[in-house]
Amino acid sequence: MSSQQPEIRRVTTHQLQAMKQRGEKISMLTAYDYSMARLLDGAGIDVILVGDSASNVMAGHETTLPITLDNMIYHASSVVRAVKRALVVIDIPFGYYQSNSSKALRSAIRIMKESGAHAVKMEGGIEIRDSVERILTAGVPVMGHLGLTPQSIYKFGTYTVRAREEKEAKKLLDDARILEECGCFSIVLEKIPADLAGQVAESVSIPVIGIGAGGGVDGQVLVMQDMLGITKEFKPRFLRRYADLDQIVTDAVSHYIRDIKSGDFPNEKEEY
Ligand code: KIV
Repeated sequence: MSSQQPEIRRVTTHQLQAMKQRGEKISMLTAYDYSMARLLDGAGIDVILVGDSASNVMAGHETTLPITLDNMIYHASSVVRAVKRALVVIDIPFGYYQSNSSKALRSAIRIMKESGAHAVKMEGGIEIRDSVERILTAGVPVMGHLGLTPQSIYKFGTYTVRAREEKEAKKLLDDARILEECGCFSIVLEKIPADLAGQVAESVSIPVIGIGAGGGVDGQVLVMQDMLGITKEFKPRFLRRYADLDQIVTDAVSHYIRDIKSGDFPNEKEEY
């Protein structure tokens, strides 16, 4: 019997495409640090997104707008160091690609060079077409993001469901086709009606990953802190919680404090 570990095959954008073709759903979660990324990767997640939601869940900001490119590269490099199998996608943060395509390309190249990630994600449709195309010509895979795009929160005014109206639904369908035509390898659809999301997934050949977009798409993504029950106050209808880490961590820390105060920790076996 060989003692060698079996070789781990990395998930690629091509494999995600093949998964869509054979109807195999794609699993995606966010991560922002080495330790959690290692757990997610070990559990077999297909895609890890270093989302700009780090601005909320890691830094405590109200929106995703304040996070910087340097911050994202720091989170991304920590995640990349942990990951052996998953495809790692990094959000280009607000202000680093919207203004012009040269700036967008510079941002994408910094992310790829300095973090070692495998792809970038950008929010928007026709408005960012030039930037998406420019990045793709440099050989950097791009994932699109349509529907509720948190970087535009001050334009929308609220985090409610997008594209309920016909005009916005039509623009979203058009934008999805544009992103596909440009060469994006995948699109995230956030918080839109399930029927519309299903229509998008059928009308484009690239994988469509949903968050609050129903089950008719090619895969699902959630923010890790939300699905693990760390961000308890955040309770949108689309969120399924798979653990109650808030309770588990609070209980463990309270226990630790009690043991220190009572003199129970450390005991003789725990000293040198
Ligand atoms: O930043 C993020 O976590 C995201 C997901 C919600 C898709 O963009």
